[in-house]
Amino acid sequence: MKRIDRFPLGARVRLADLAVYPYPIFAELRAAEPVTWVPEIERWFLTRRDDMLAVLRDPDLFTTDAPSTIRDMFGVHMMTTEGPTQIRYKRKCLPPFHASRLKTASMPPLMAEVERLVATLGSGGRCAGEVRTTVARPVALHSVLSVLGIPLSETERVNEWYEHFARALANFAGDPDLRAAGKGAADAFGEAVAPILEGLERDPNGSLLSDLMCDHVDPLTAEEIRSNALIILFGGIETTESMIANAVWALLSHPEQIGTARSSREALDLAIEETLRWEPAVQSAARHATRDTEIRGIRIAKGEVVHCMLGAANRDPAHFENPDRFDVTRQNAGDHLSFAVGRHFCLGAPLARLETRVVLETLWARCPGLRLDPDRPGAPYGYEFRKPATLWVEWGV
Ligand code: HEM
Repeated sequence: MKRIDRFPLGARVRLADLAVYPYPIFAELRAAEPVTWVPEIERWFLTRRDDMLAVLRDPDLFTTDAPSTIRDMFGVHMMTTEGPTQIRYKRKCLPPFHASRLKTASMPPLMAEVERLVATLGSGGRCAGEVRTTVARPVALHSVLSVLGIPLSETERVNEWYEHFARALANFAGDPDLRAAGKGAADAFGEAVAPILEGLERDPNGSLLSDLMCDHVDPLTAEEIRSNALIILFGGIETTESMIANAVWALLSHPEQIGTARSSREALDLAIEETLRWEPAVQSAARHATRDTEIRGIRIAKGEVVHCMLGAANRDPAHFENPDRFDVTRQNAGDHLSFAVGRHFCLGAPLARLETRVVLETLWARCPGLRLDPDRPGAPYGYEFRKPATLWVEWGV
């Protein structure tokens, strides 16, 4: 029997529909075809949380260590390798993401930058502003550049490279021009970073690149530093921009819950987890089967790609009660898979959470009566990265 006949719901899945609103499609798949074949992209989709936990926790059987556009673009880095090499790369890059260092090194400049950006939205009387491009994107860029130790004067060039990377990584049709532009941007990044690295070796500044350059115990090579810096840079921009925008959107869409979310630091942290669960910025994590295997009795052939649909895991009724309901008091909200799980758990999760909290606190402090602008509605969109195209808000009277 052909796959298209064995998996009729999978055969009907269209990325264009997922981009608009994936959750009813995920619910149907999870109930009737939890392991399904999606002919549009010739990949497997998983929609049950338990199956995803099993896959993401088994890097011997389901690996990232395989040819992919992200490896083609950035080289071998922590996300496209497994085993001791992956652990070594990640361990070397972890220190700036530890809570204590975030608090002392990242928090003060982050707060100042968010204050500055929120002030540009306007003040006095009745105000309106667009939060995604004015606040979320620049905050994400500023934070990841600062952690890496790339001068903020490079912001514009990084933005340009990012657009080339994003187009090249979404280049499923294999367009050679898009691939060349992406690789050209990765090369340009390498050329721009080389003198920065040399400077940091002479004059360390406490940034990640500076740590890596001054590491004399089993140091990474220049190529390894470049590849891992690229995935951190790429991983930290659109993802965090989307997380911040989705969190603001989700909370402002439920104004009756904002008082609870703001009632204490712990309540806000839990509310942010609920925004991550309900509308995750990254919708899937892909793995390649290293040998023929089975999931729920369905044969997956060696080399085939399995997509763990993270947004579907987050609404699995087997784990989350009334999963479609947004509830800032949901005690197990933090069990979402929005940062994945296992060895490739997101390196930047603590920083992204911090950025989101600082943006929310600053918006509420500086923009009394903050609400969505009813005349310019927006909603998250996208099948891979999900975010509102625009997020217009208003405040004041
Ligand atoms: C400061 C911001 C961020 C940085 C620097 C960052 C960086 C990274 C890096 C380097 C990895 C690879 C880790 C590894 O392979 O061991 C990763 C994985 C991941 N990140 Fe992030 N990230 C950030 C924000 C986010 C946000 C906001 C989300 C979504 C809400 C997200 C979702 C993920 C997911 C799902 C993975 C796992 C991918 C997989 O296993 O295939 N990241 N991140």
